Amino acid sequence: MEVIEVDHPLAAARLTIMRDARTDNVAFRGALADLGAMLVYEAARDLETEEFAVETPVATATGRRLADPPIIVPIIRAGLGMIDPALSMIPDAQVGFLGMARDEETHEPVPYLEALPDDLSGRTVFLVDPMLATGGSLLHGLRLVAERGATEIVVVCMVSAVPGVEAVRNSGYPVKRLVTATIDPELDENAYIVPGLGDAGDRLYGPRNIDLTDPR
Ligand code: PRP
Ligand code: URA
Repeated sequence: MEVIEVDHPLAAARLTIMRDARTDNVAFRGALADLGAMLVYEAARDLETEEFAVETPVATATGRRLADPPIIVPIIRAGLGMIDPALSMIPDAQVGFLGMARDEETHEPVPYLEALPDDLSGRTVFLVDPMLATGGSLLHGLRLVAERGATEIVVVCMVSAVPGVEAVRNSGYPVKRLVTATIDPELDENAYIVPGLGDAGDRLYGPRNIDLTDPR
């Protein structure tokens, strides 16, 4: 797995806004959207293109377009904030959805939504989530897309912690590349990334209130 830690002044500035505890929901959403577009731009760098003829007002030029746009799969809630920026970069991408929330005691993901095409064989999947902490949520997402036949998976996260990166690296799933804005060194006793940015879902949308024990 190739790991790309994007080193760019504009990406670093947006990440800093997101890390700052004083940043409110509105500014956090804005910075996350900007950073999301930058990371997806980088993640798309070697997507295959095909040539076609395009008429300019003057003559015929050789145009290029994506040969096979990827399917974007956000892990919600926090991944929701990355859909619009991803689509702004790749307007013809398809979007699938996975919903899961970490159990606060066990830190294991508890899935509550799976809305993906049945067959992902031959497709490139961009699995996107702002946070990669223990890696439990992402590994669950990887299992679901790999089970459907995805053979080329690109993971886009904003803040990745070393344990999560290692978990993905050792997972055996066909992850071609991880694109991230930072790799933070560790997790605290609640499995939050240190220094991280706190709870990305809460900072985007406010506190979550799902009863994970309620089967409804
Ligand atoms: C966050 C984040 C990831 C997960 C990362 O979601 O968006 O999905 O935690 O942690 P992990 O690598 O240890 O699994 P959370 O479960 O807090 O749900 P939310 O997006 O609804 O807030
Ligand atoms: N999920 C988050 O939103 N933040 C963390 O630091 C870890 C998991």
